[in-house]
Amino acid sequence: MPIELMPPKLLSPAISQWIALGVRALSRAIEIKNPPMIGLDIGSSSIKMVVLEKKGPREFQLERYVIEPLPEGAVTEGNINELSIVSDRIKRAYQRLGSGLKSVAIALPFSDVITKRTLFSNILKEEQIEQQIPLEVGQYIPFPLEESNFDFQVLGPSRDSPEDVDVMIAAARREKLEDRVAAVEAAGLKALVVDVDLFALQSIYALTKPIDEKTNWGEVENIALVKVGAWRMSIHIIREGFSIYQREQPFGGAQLTQEIQSYFELPEAKAESAKRDGTLPESYVNKILMPFLQNLGEEVARSIQYFYSTSEYNQVHSIVLVGGCAALAQAASVVQTQTMIPTSVAKVFNALTVSDKVPVHTLNRDASSLFVACGLALRGFD
Ligand SMILES: Nc1ncnc2c1ncn2[C@@H]1O[C@H](COP(=O)(O)OP(=O)(O)OP(=O)(O)O)[C@@H](O)[C@H]1O
Ligand SMILES: [Mg+2]
Repeated sequence: MPIELMPPKLLSPAISQWIALGVRALSRAIEIKNPPMIGLDIGSSSIKMVVLEKKGPREFQLERYVIEPLPEGAVTEGNINELSIVSDRIKRAYQRLGSGLKSVAIALPFSDVITKRTLFSNILKEEQIEQQIPLEVGQYIPFPLEESNFDFQVLGPSRDSPEDVDVMIAAARREKLEDRVAAVEAAGLKALVVDVDLFALQSIYALTKPIDEKTNWGEVENIALVKVGAWRMSIHIIREGFSIYQREQPFGGAQLTQEIQSYFELPEAKAESAKRDGTLPESYVNKILMPFLQNLGEEVARSIQYFYSTSEYNQVHSIVLVGGCAALAQAASVVQTQTMIPTSVAKVFNALTVSDKVPVHTLNRDASSLFVACGLALRGFD
């Protein structure tokens, strides 16, 4: 079939030209400048908004953020079930944020996106690669091309095959995207970039790491980024700035809250706030928290075993925890004991400076939840 007859690229007109992918090379590959944007992360327990300011080539400052809770069930497993509630909360979050920006970058959960890294000859121009993308996508998505949004990014010269360039392709079912865009638009905002949550995470994490100026490659180690939210936990192994393995499971802090509720006979809201503020009775640690963290450690260990069995690698050099549950006391030490891999908790401050306007004590509590939103806000500087 002639390529011209393939359906046109991507996304509803409201959205930009691409799904921004990966950490590097976007600015090199696509010479379109984005306007500054709010990073908007629609999680299952809350909506997070972040505004960053650029201070230098790889330096950014956290200017403002808000976390607006969502009622249970409004968003589950990355799906928006209650559009009007979600858009109402986005609106509320935006009012609290007090920013003049109207454009936002949003993300699809990694589990809703099919990604593939592939090689193209380096003699092809970007437009020529673009023409071939629909053919490529059509080969590996389990739904019709007409019902999908897809995009690609040239990542740079391939290391193993010098005649080629590495290209990342991403595709998602159109309806997954449309829900999110509709929620944003109903709140009076404009979705300009659609990213993938794990890639946004990776972008912000990459800022904490030095890169080789010559090759632009990140560190030659396998780093496991483990994100534990309210209902989902995802593991993402990064090597040289690329994601080489991903796995997602239903596991998260909402389970811990439920256990607190039933053990201490507390209503949900009380259980949730006592958990965050650390005001539960002493027995909490041994009876509830430790078993939860041990489960987490086992899940992480299992995912890493899967990684070993499906890849050429047999080592993970370190584990970095992010997501709301990374704030739990002893999370890193339990995961480290269970996996025998050095484990730390990521802090947004490691990647960003923080404006004086942001209250430090609340940020300390919230920092591990903000990673995806911060990574999304970075898209405003591509
Ligand atoms: N300071 C804290 N101490 C303990 N638990 C916390 C803290 N902050 C957030 N959490 C827990 O982390 C979870 C929320 O994490 P996060 O905001 O990353 O998830 P989400 O984005 O809403 O959900 P998901 O990513 O699963 O869709 C909740 O279970 C919450 O109770
Ligand atoms: Mg989340």
